[in-house]
Amino acid sequence: MTRTQKSSKKSLKTIRELRGQVLDWYDKHRRVLPWRAVRGEVSNPYHVWLSEVMLQQTTVTAVKDYYMKFLRLWPEVRDLAAAEQDDVMAAWAGLGYYARARNLHKCAKVVANELGGVFPEEQADLKALPGIGDYTSAAIAAIAFNKPATVVDGNIERVMARLFNVREPMPASKKQLKALAHEFFDGYEERPGDLAQAFMDLGAGICIPKAPRCALCPLSLECEARAAGDPEVLPLKSPKKKRPQKHGIVYWVQDDRGRVLLERREEKGLLGGMLALPTGQWGVHGDRIDELDYLKDIEDCRLHIDHVFTHFDLRLHLKRAKLKSMSESLIWGDVSDAHEAMPSLFQKAYKLFVA
Ligand code: ADE
Repeated sequence: MTRTQKSSKKSLKTIRELRGQVLDWYDKHRRVLPWRAVRGEVSNPYHVWLSEVMLQQTTVTAVKDYYMKFLRLWPEVRDLAAAEQDDVMAAWAGLGYYARARNLHKCAKVVANELGGVFPEEQADLKALPGIGDYTSAAIAAIAFNKPATVVDGNIERVMARLFNVREPMPASKKQLKALAHEFFDGYEERPGDLAQAFMDLGAGICIPKAPRCALCPLSLECEARAAGDPEVLPLKSPKKKRPQKHGIVYWVQDDRGRVLLERREEKGLLGGMLALPTGQWGVHGDRIDELDYLKDIEDCRLHIDHVFTHFDLRLHLKRAKLKSMSESLIWGDVSDAHEAMPSLFQKAYKLFVA
């Protein structure tokens, strides 16, 4: 059957049975992850919150080392709240979507200074905190506090689309997929955190995008897309708009002591608040890109780097220059320290400049 309606039309009994099956599978096959409490242990809300913010739009593999580093630097929410923002941004460098780091720090301050260091337990109260949206509030409520919140990430959307053979393409089908997930979470008070993580692990290891491993899936007998014969095509996606190509210049400027010129980017906007190599405006094809007016003796290196952002592709041409006049946002930095504190795009340019 192809889905057009919101409810699954599976009986409550079937939903209950499927829930049991996915939890039994989880109890045997759950991933060991550094932020995850072991069975029977109580979750630490600070650990759950930190990991869930890092996992927004980012893979488990990319997050692990950053998560460990943050806990080493700031073992409790009060430690993170007391940190300098620049240190938090530097520790986040390379993980991307830098507004997350600014909001993480803001949220730590609210929890430490206004809430006595204790995270709220209800989804609505969590959602009122900086950087915590629909998904993250549900994940923290369920995983840290065992509240029956409906948790839906990309993995869970894929599992729902296949289990119920939803043929409407993403993102239009998001509401329907959430309503289907809701049937599993609604009023389920026993192990909602484990249920959420069970669906996540199922999506990450079994119900994988290209070649789902249906023979190993605890839900395969009830899976409607499997019955239809093509689970691997779901969820369907609306054709993507082509991303625009932008271009610009990135500069390497050293003083006679060997220090490198860096800029602190404005708080608002892309890579906001991050330490960066000097770069001017980025334009689309045909736009003129002026050299930065505080530089002189500019030399083209005839090299470039390419970088992919969510909404555009970027090519930056590498140039060497000398400083003409200092300004407030500019900083002389140590060459090797600067490297680690910058977003990946500038780390790429740095590697070419020093090679
Ligand atoms: N992705 C996002 N949150 C996760 C979690 N708690 N466990 C596994 N994968 C996740």
